[in-house]
Formats: sequence, structure tokens, C-alpha cells
Amino acid sequence: MRVVLFGPPGSGKGTQASLLKEKYGLVHIATGDILREAVSNKTEVGLKAKSYMDRGELVPDDVVIAIVKDKLQSIGEVGFILDGFPRTIAQAEALDKVLVELGKPLDAVVNLQVDEEELVRRLSGRRVCPSCGEPYHVDSKPPKIDEVCDKCGAALLHREDDKPEAIRNRLRVYREQTEPVLGYYASKSILKNIDAVGDIEQVASRIANAVGSDKF
Ligand code: AP5
Repeated sequence: MRVVLFGPPGSGKGTQASLLKEKYGLVHIATGDILREAVSNKTEVGLKAKSYMDRGELVPDDVVIAIVKDKLQSIGEVGFILDGFPRTIAQAEALDKVLVELGKPLDAVVNLQVDEEELVRRLSGRRVCPSCGEPYHVDSKPPKIDEVCDKCGAALLHREDDKPEAIRNRLRVYREQTEPVLGYYASKSILKNIDAVGDIEQVASRIANAVGSDKF
């Protein structure tokens, strides 16, 4: 299965990708996680990306496309989940080109639909593991031990771009630059719209039903 998890900031892409990865043994390619790692390692890409990310702006297309291309070329025959990519029409076109070269077309683009009030609630209460990337929420998915990752024991982080001003900017950037990508995939008839409000497991089974769990 080759799938894109699409949706606004806070719609649950990382949460659902983590479940799908565990359940179906897929490779999880999250551009946000890859960029955050580059920032924390102070690589050339990280230094370029940091100021865009802190403000909630998109990192330039050429930087992100190069990252995803490398990753897709290195994973072999295993299925994958793209989380947070593509976010612009240019990225969607570049992705198509790489996947044609690799002979691995997308099976589905899953669009997680959540209203804006709920997105703000989710993002402002989010905590993330800086080590393994597992997302938490102070109310809806608290860790077993306060501020500590259940999976790897690292201290949880409140992301810089989960502060109010950056959240507002990310939602604006999503509406202006990313939402138009939905039309691109609707015209290819691989777009699945999912109601992503409700229990995390409930949303996961809606995704499996829409895509066809036998295909994972
Ligand atoms: P990225 O890390 O991709 O951030 P994002 O898309 O803004 O998405 P989020 O990680 O904020 O949310 P999510 O949908 O994964 O939700 P989550 O599962 O965590 O990107 C960060 C930055 O990197 C960008 O702003 C940009 O600068 C740069 N970047 C990345 N990709 C790029 C690209 N392709 N091009 C250019 N720049 C790029 O859930 C959120 C919270 O809600 C959690 O606390 C979770 O526990 C909770 N939650 C999840 N599901 C539910 C549920 N069903 N009910 C209640 N709570 C829930």
C-alpha cells in the first residue's frame, strides 16, 4: 500500500500514520519529522529550514522534494505512508514524477477533515517525543507518566510552532497553499475524504474501510 495522509495541521496525520505503520509494517515518511531532526542536528538543510518552520511557513519546495525523493529511492519494495507531503502543487507534481520513475503509483490520498476550532484545541495541547516522534495530547492522549514518552522514555516537547501565533499562521498557509492540492488528487480519482473527528481508533478504522484494509 502506498498512501498519502493529507490534512491541515493537527488533523491527526502523525497519529494515524504511527498506527498504520505498526499495524501494516509500512515505512512512515514524515517531512516535518525529517526536517525537525535536521534542525536539531544543525545540518545544512536544518539551518535553511528552521526559520520557516518556527514561523509556520512552508520550507521551499526544492529542499523538501529532494528529501522525499532520496527517501523513496532508498526504501525498496515496502509500502509507505507520506505524512505532510505533498503540500503544494509543485510537490505533488514532483512526487508523481518520482513514483512513475520507480513504477510505484499511489493507491490513495486520505484527507483527514477536522474543523478549525478542534484543530486549535489539538495543536495547543499537543506534546511530541523529540526522539521517536510519537504524538501525545494533554487531554485526549496523555502519556502514562507526565511529560515522558511511553514508547522510548524521552522527555516530551511543546513544539515552537504549536504556540498561538504560529498555529494561526500554519492554518492560513494550509488554506492558501496546501488545500488546492486536494483538487489535484480529486481529478485523479484517488482522493478519500475521512471524518477525522472522534476517537483515534475510530478514525483509524474509517481510514482502513475507505482505503480497503486488505490493500495494506
Ligand atoms: P509537520 O510536522 O508536518 O506539521 P503539520 O502538518 O502542521 O502537522 P502536525 O504535525 O502539526 O499535525 P498532524 O496532522 O500530524 O497531527 P497529530 O497526529 O500530531 O510540519 C511542520 C513544519 O515543517 C511545517 O509548518 C513546515 O514548515 C515544514 N514542512 C513539513 N513538511 C513540509 C512540506 N512538505 N513542504 C514544506 N514545508 C514542510 O495530532 C495533533 C494532536 O491532536 C496530537 O496532540 C494528537 O494526540 C491529537 N489527536 C490526534 N488525533 C486525534 C483525535 N482523533 N481526537 C483527539 N485528538 C487527536
